[in-house]
Amino acid sequence: MRANFITQLKETFRQARGLNLPAKKFKEVVLLGMGGSSIGGDILRALAFSQSKISVHILRDYHLPRFVSKNTLVVCVSYSGNTEETLQAFKEARARKSSLFVIASGGKLEKQALQYKIPFFKIEIKAEPREALGALLAPLLVLGQKAGLIKITPSDFAVQTDLENKVKEFAAKIENTTPIFVGAEHLVPVARRFKTQVNENSKQAAFFEELPELCHNTIAGLDNPPSLSNLCFVILSSPYYYIRNQKRVKILEEIFQQKKVKYQIWQVQGSPTKIIEIFNFLALADALSLKLASLNKADPKAVPTIDYLKKRLAAR
Ligand code: F6R
Repeated sequence: MRANFITQLKETFRQARGLNLPAKKFKEVVLLGMGGSSIGGDILRALAFSQSKISVHILRDYHLPRFVSKNTLVVCVSYSGNTEETLQAFKEARARKSSLFVIASGGKLEKQALQYKIPFFKIEIKAEPREALGALLAPLLVLGQKAGLIKITPSDFAVQTDLENKVKEFAAKIENTTPIFVGAEHLVPVARRFKTQVNENSKQAAFFEELPELCHNTIAGLDNPPSLSNLCFVILSSPYYYIRNQKRVKILEEIFQQKKVKYQIWQVQGSPTKIIEIFNFLALADALSLKLASLNKADPKAVPTIDYLKKRLAAR
């Protein structure tokens, strides 16, 4: 497994440039997907947050919320094209006559997109879904741009690629811990991505939390059980955070020291914009999870527990 998020993102963005939005006008956007196929939607929503007057929703589930109608653009993302939650919600969106757009590498979603003449972008990269984030995100960024949700230019892809030393250093810090990745604002989906990559690639327990919310509950629970020696809070820090969130990070450091809870504050230098910071952190998450996989002597490609669950679900 290789960490090549940025290359994939740039190449697929070029390929996706010509894609067309569904012709019908829409009032809101709902992005469907699970696991590795859902994170791109989170990133689009985070970028749209400060730019778009149209609301963007994420659904990681079987059923559409009641508001979805013929005036909604529903974007279905599934690398395999066979994920049952996404297929069910796609079926409901068809029944509600929503505008649809499909992103998949094949499977039932591709079949149905072609059968029902639904605008479709095919992912050509052969990879594990979580390894294809660059390819899955690129058409979403193009869609987002064409729908007026975000603005993006080639300079947004000018990320730093020299992460080698950081990765070694950071992996050593969280090896043998249960990291809790914490992000605020545009880095909330990035914290989720760190968690999921460490779970799936490194086969290591990891969780994620949001700032400022964790200041209202999580910190109250640090007194019990008496030893939390395995936990390590990893705060993804950013100079772009709202000033009050930056202050919260500083106070959290004090609290973690008082409670003797392990923590790390991580930043990526060389991020002249928020979007580049997101991309830099995403590239770091991939590389870090692969490094941890090798430290854990785990095969980053195999996910036997997920396969087992899917197999059990498929059995009658
Ligand atoms: C596997 C992975 C999973 C899948 C998820 C949904 O690499 O990352 O989280 O992404 O099980 O499957 P797809 O992406 O095929 O819809």
